[in-house]
Amino acid sequence: AHRVDVVGAASASVTCAEDQPLLDAFLRNGVYLPNSCNQGTCGTCKVRLCSGTVDAPEVPETVLGADDQARGFVLACQSRPRSDTTIEVEAPEQTGPRHRLRDVVGTVHGIETVAHDTVTVLVDIDEPLDFSAGQYMEIAVPGTGEWRQYSMANPPASASRLEFQIRRVPGGVATDGWIFGGLDVGHELEMRGPWGDFAYEPGADEPETPMLLLAGGTGLAPLTSIAVQALTDDPDREIHLYHGVRHEADLYHQQFWREVAERHRGLTYVPCLSRSEWDGRTGYVGDAVLDDFASLRGYVAYLCGPPAMVDAGVKACKRRRMPARNIRREKYTPSG
Ligand code: FES
Repeated sequence: AHRVDVVGAASASVTCAEDQPLLDAFLRNGVYLPNSCNQGTCGTCKVRLCSGTVDAPEVPETVLGADDQARGFVLACQSRPRSDTTIEVEAPEQTGPRHRLRDVVGTVHGIETVAHDTVTVLVDIDEPLDFSAGQYMEIAVPGTGEWRQYSMANPPASASRLEFQIRRVPGGVATDGWIFGGLDVGHELEMRGPWGDFAYEPGADEPETPMLLLAGGTGLAPLTSIAVQALTDDPDREIHLYHGVRHEADLYHQQFWREVAERHRGLTYVPCLSRSEWDGRTGYVGDAVLDDFASLRGYVAYLCGPPAMVDAGVKACKRRRMPARNIRREKYTPSG
């Protein structure tokens, strides 16, 4: 194991095993580093190597620009120490959830089919997990050495039973091969988390800041956690939730959201179909937002879904004058 110091915005030292990614070591010690995908694809976790050597895979320039690479930046989620090392985090204002990453053993409590190809999985865990609404867990796919990432849909307050919303990806080893192909009540799950910067922190925004939540597909899961938590903090909070899917059969939890909207006058729930007609809204959620709001100045937004949906949603928010710092997003590509 090696000693790794971080300087700059945060300053701390942790011990990191030779086969352990730097990010993993810091988060397990409760030291925050910016992070999102934990897969080497988003670039959020970039840190500058000041001294020492790390074993880091080659990174495409789309993830870490040539300039950054020349200046010694590496991805903390993909780099393992080969000596004692010092790294620097540049982004000075970066703050995020500080919950300690840990290994978690879960037991499947229930599986419910909620749409033609979507299930919710309830998992009881050994001890309550500290996390922020919006964060995710990694779940080991038995016998494959692979992990899959699923956001918690439950709010942090009910942290000893986690809810995941999982869509089947045809041919996927985790979904077709396992979750939709034999996973059952009582089965044990090996998990680690929480991960990610996409999070709602009570008190982070001015009270009463209206919230816009844009979900694509099972991107609804983290936004469920966020909405329920925000309504617990302030039952009158103004929240506009848009859920975009292709067809009506892809929608789930409509009844739940209608009931929440009845109890909380500030919540509006807008399911949107992009590929078929019905008696509700149609089109993309980004366009629905453009139609519904003349200005989004003073709003905060949380977006989670496929990359194209998130990009279009962010564009819509900016066109309606939402300040960039108020827009929080997580792109989600189901890996099956
Ligand atoms: Fe996304 Fe490391 S590249 S968290």
